[in-house]
Amino acid sequence: MIIGLMGFGTIGAGVYELAKSRKDLTVRYVLDIREIGIPEWTTRAEDLFEDKEVDTVIEVMGGLHPAYEFVAAALKAGKNVVTANKYLVATYYDELTALAKEQDVAFRCTAAVGGGISWLTSLERVRRLEPVVALEGIMNGTTNYILTNMAKNGLSFETALSEAQALGYAEADPSADIDGLDVMHKLLLSANIAFDVSLDPKEIDVFGIRNITDDDVWTFKSRHLTCKLLARAFQKNGKTAVFVQPTLLSESALTASVPTNFNLITYDTAFTGKMSYYGQGAGRYPTAANVVQDCLDLLSGVTKFYADAADKVAVDNSVAKYQYYLRTTADTKALAAEKWGDGVLTKEMSVAEMAAFAEKAKAEDPRIFVAALKNEE
Ligand code: HSE
Repeated sequence: MIIGLMGFGTIGAGVYELAKSRKDLTVRYVLDIREIGIPEWTTRAEDLFEDKEVDTVIEVMGGLHPAYEFVAAALKAGKNVVTANKYLVATYYDELTALAKEQDVAFRCTAAVGGGISWLTSLERVRRLEPVVALEGIMNGTTNYILTNMAKNGLSFETALSEAQALGYAEADPSADIDGLDVMHKLLLSANIAFDVSLDPKEIDVFGIRNITDDDVWTFKSRHLTCKLLARAFQKNGKTAVFVQPTLLSESALTASVPTNFNLITYDTAFTGKMSYYGQGAGRYPTAANVVQDCLDLLSGVTKFYADAADKVAVDNSVAKYQYYLRTTADTKALAAEKWGDGVLTKEMSVAEMAAFAEKAKAEDPRIFVAALKNEE
């Protein structure tokens, strides 16, 4: 395989190193605007598209532009594309999957969800035989690192975030991590593949952890609860619910014990039931290894994307119901069931209702924090 690699940051440098160790992978170009001091370096994206011998383009630049233009150009030039860029694939899902199909080339993004976990390839495999009814889990290493360190080691939010950045877990702009958007993109990709749909990212309700305080964590601890940022999607009675929210789990729950940058992602299917995947969800080598595994899959004959169909389906989060820990200076009288630390525990309400409340309350109180209370597990 002759590879054109786009991006030589945390992941790109890892991909370069791992690919170099193999005889069946040749990195011919590495595109980066910075001088990177390697012989394959180029600043001209055209070098990769115009070279007929390059059969696969790997995009690990991140961001939407020029990643979209470059990936579209690579597909149009008849190259297979492997990317770890969830923001890109989630945003241009219809365009890029259709283009790959039209050009009859492979389009793979396994490292985009779960870092080093072979989650998307496992979903692809299970959905051949069984309908997937639900997906759930921890899909972001940075926020899990922050939440683990706040609860277990008493670190402040800011210190834990700085450490996650130093370890190469966080996005270039860590807002995407702490506001839940990174998880939303990963959930959208997973749900699209699992359910054969094409979801609109704007319809997915997302609550992040930016505003969680030491006192919130203390309130949860005193009730033997652990807060994790969870993604969830399910289909029930013809409705599709898809949302991301901090979730309070019993300390003894499996998901509550997931440490540092690890992810734990579960699907629930008609015959097998629940199956979980656990591993490092962020970091140079786990993610780079998953990118290189995609290349090896191409060498073993993979020729397309993970799913074929992509029906437009509206998200309906009125069918998912929780009690919520809600801390805000906005008026909560109509929702509150009991007082919990600096906040309240609400009566049961739907994710859609809480999203509508939080959207309004945010105007008055930008520091609002919500976390769903999960009873089962
Ligand atoms: N910023 C992401 C995370 C990187 O922390 O999970 C891996 O997708």
